[in-house]
Amino acid sequence: MLFMVATRSSRELRFAALHGPRARSVLAIVAGTMSVWAGAALAEQLRGLDLNVGPPPALAPGQPPPLPEPGPLAAPRSQHQVGFPATLTKSVIPSASPLTPAVVALGEKLFFDSRLSGDGTVACASCHDPARAFTDGRPTSVGIKGRAGQRNAPTVLNALYNKTQFWDGRVDTLEQQAALPITNPFEMGAARLDDAVGRIADDEDYQQQFMQAFGRTVNEQDLLRAIATYERTLTSFDSPFDHFIAGDATAIGDAAKRGWELFNTKAKCNLCHALTEKQRDVAVLVDNDFHNIGIGILRHHVVPLVRQANRELAEGKLQVIDAKAIESEISALGRFLITKKQNDIASFKTPGIRNILVTGPYFHDGSMQTLWDVVDHYNKGDGLSDPWLDEDIQPLALTEPEIDDLVAFLVSLTSPQYTELGEKELARQQAIAKVSRPQRDTVRAFSAKPRRPSPPPF
Ligand code: HEC
Ligand code: HEC
Repeated sequence: MLFMVATRSSRELRFAALHGPRARSVLAIVAGTMSVWAGAALAEQLRGLDLNVGPPPALAPGQPPPLPEPGPLAAPRSQHQVGFPATLTKSVIPSASPLTPAVVALGEKLFFDSRLSGDGTVACASCHDPARAFTDGRPTSVGIKGRAGQRNAPTVLNALYNKTQFWDGRVDTLEQQAALPITNPFEMGAARLDDAVGRIADDEDYQQQFMQAFGRTVNEQDLLRAIATYERTLTSFDSPFDHFIAGDATAIGDAAKRGWELFNTKAKCNLCHALTEKQRDVAVLVDNDFHNIGIGILRHHVVPLVRQANRELAEGKLQVIDAKAIESEISALGRFLITKKQNDIASFKTPGIRNILVTGPYFHDGSMQTLWDVVDHYNKGDGLSDPWLDEDIQPLALTEPEIDDLVAFLVSLTSPQYTELGEKELARQQAIAKVSRPQRDTVRAFSAKPRRPSPPPF
């Protein structure tokens, strides 16, 4: 029994578990008392408990990931969420593709339909599970026949606001995006989009639904349009943070409030996780840009990798880039695969950070387990010997209480559908962070910014 631990915050957690979505602000309160709750015996107490969060069970060789059922969490979100950016949302919905109920219902059905994959085992939802805030909880995704890719599955919640899609921004629209996993050999593995369409074309329900939605029978273009339209209904706001911004000063705890200040000042998160550096962004928390923030690249021999990329992607075909980004080591080059510019080596898109508590593990390669790892990473200004590191990455000199405050702020970005999941996940991450902080390097965090080495000759 997790909630038997007799601290003040665990009682609050129990309250939240019992009261569900009504206990929205409890998460914030819990975050505000984080140091109390991280009592010494806690990690011990949590060890071995089935929290039903964290990475899903490992798969046997050759086994595809399980296919989730659609349910209430897959339903289109309301436009009446606190914090819902109405004007922005209107501007990102193409006028030719309004969110009509018939199209949205069709899109949802397709999102969960494994018949679109090469062997009928994998659907979009296999890697974008609504119960996990439309991620899969794995460091990197596993697709058809158990093939493991190189990249972490981002959430599709709020993906409608992305100016580009994928970690490297290789396409712009959700329609273009949806076509690629269907034929990617490591994801859904259909030989061609045509084949996927063919497998549902004889289905009378689909025939009727396509007719109702678009006035014509099953076809490729409308299939992609329906999936994209459904995704545009998956907006996620109404978090304690949104209530705080809307004027409810009690919606988040003091720690989260201090964390929000730090986010925009000393911790410099707003240099990238905001539309502009000058103005606070409370909607999407991205700059629509790409940066190398020192994740992963130093494990690789970059010069041979760049040569390999130049060779393999010589023709610049999107489908080839898509395949390599998922299955090959050149994946680590990030935005470089698209632009072939040296400055873009190991640059990745600034991701949205709403619901971040429940969309781990973190970064494009899923290499970090907890939000403490993420903040420790930024705090030391990682990538000392990364010649392509973004100039805004630097030691931050954040103290331990400041790190906890930033985490409390990140936790406050959890939408109400994921309050309970978030509580369990927070407890799990706290237990881990209590005993393991692999990214922490306090000496470096308080040192001067090292000089960036020059890039090697190519
Ligand atoms: C095998 C797992 C898997 C399947 C199946 C899958 N995806 Fe993904 N999805 C991923 C991964 C991994 C990425 C990131 C890949 C990258 O950036 O190179 C991604 C990226 C995305 C993105 C971009 C989000 C962003 O923030 O940039 C969207 C949208 C998306 N997927 C929707 C879909 C849809 C729609 C389908 C079904 C047609 C689908 N996915 C099938 C794993 C999967
Ligand atoms: C120089 C730009 C930049 C700055 C500054 C920055 N970020 Fe990021 N952030 C990014 C990029 C780019 C990624 C994705 C990088 C990758 O995966 O390789 C990212 C990823 C993340 C993630 C993981 C998201 C996910 O879905 O896995 C979190 C959480 C995050 N940032 C929080 C923060 C916080 C907190 C700060 C301040 C301490 C901060 N960031 C500062 C650009 C930045």
